[in-house]
Amino acid sequence: MRVLVTGGAGFIGSNLVERLAACDHSVRVLDNFSTGVRSNLAPCHDDVDVLEGDVRDPDVVARAVEGREVVFHLAAVNSVQRSFEAPGATLETNARGTLEVLRAARRAGVRRLVYASSSSVYGANPGSPRREGSEPQPLSPYGCSKLAGERICESMEPGPETVVLRYFNVYGPRQDGGSYAAVVPRFLAAARAGNEAVVFGTGRQSRDFTFVSDVVQANLLAIDVPQAAGQRLNIATGSATTINELVEVVGRATGVDLDVRHGEPRAGDVAHSVADITAARRVLGYAPTTELADGIRQTALLDAELAPAHG
Ligand SMILES: NC(=O)c1ccc[n+]([C@@H]2O[C@H](COP(=O)([O-])OP(=O)(O)OC[C@H]3O[C@@H](n4cnc5c(N)ncnc54)[C@H](O)[C@@H]3O)[C@@H](O)[C@H]2O)c1
Repeated sequence: MRVLVTGGAGFIGSNLVERLAACDHSVRVLDNFSTGVRSNLAPCHDDVDVLEGDVRDPDVVARAVEGREVVFHLAAVNSVQRSFEAPGATLETNARGTLEVLRAARRAGVRRLVYASSSSVYGANPGSPRREGSEPQPLSPYGCSKLAGERICESMEPGPETVVLRYFNVYGPRQDGGSYAAVVPRFLAAARAGNEAVVFGTGRQSRDFTFVSDVVQANLLAIDVPQAAGQRLNIATGSATTINELVEVVGRATGVDLDVRHGEPRAGDVAHSVADITAARRVLGYAPTTELADGIRQTALLDAELAPAHG
């Protein structure tokens, strides 16, 4: 199948691209390399057509979607914290960028678009576990922008079929350990460097940590299953882990006894975020396969192997 992956040089995108290429799909990537890096695509470089450009640029997007049957739209400013510092840029990329991709996909006759949404759309909604039918109450410009992207997907009539996948706290190899790093790469980096792990707040807040290969699995299923069209689906494991428990898991996986320092709670952080994945199981036949301890071990091992390539 001929597919486009926007944001394909990023953490999740590059894991998806590698798998799509291995399954003999014809893969094109559109990325502006703002957070993504070319070395993420090194394992499948010869099999992938890489277009450098911005999802907000209609001309570039038109070239990217040309001849494609399916689009995976992952390009985004992906950080709650950054979205507070740069709300306009976050909305521009995540909402208007999604509109540009959908418009171009409609003109090019793309059959289906799979949209990377986020658990952050649930925000302040007290319901737990999170269910797709509950009211979104985002707490950050990032959450608002991902919700806007969902609504744009669902309101583009006529247009490609769309499938909204709401990812929960994805982790795995190639996740950025930079200044806006998510908690798993931060703790792994602390273990490698012998630093203390910084926990924002009490550490009793819980998350549904999802290994990237399970997210890739959901995306592959979302290409074909006819009844997935028009659905919003949580993609997670359905199990809650507190941040304090995560410190222990990272410690066991790396053999480093991490010291913890507690920092102030962060804006936009919710107390508990765990998914009900019944709908994804039923509609897609999705079944997460990687336990947290195993996923963290694989991440630590693979990132250590990749470290020289990242310089
Ligand atoms: N990582 C998670 O836990 C998580 C959770 C929920 C949802 N998501 C969503 O999954 C998607 C991928 O996230 P990720 O963790 O791989 O982040 P990432 O930052 O590694 O990947 C985003 C990619 O998009 C590219 N990009 C950013 N702005 C762009 C633009 N204007 N034009 C073209 N390319 C652009 C970046 O260069 C990068 O390669 C995002 O849409 C994100 O909102 C991620």
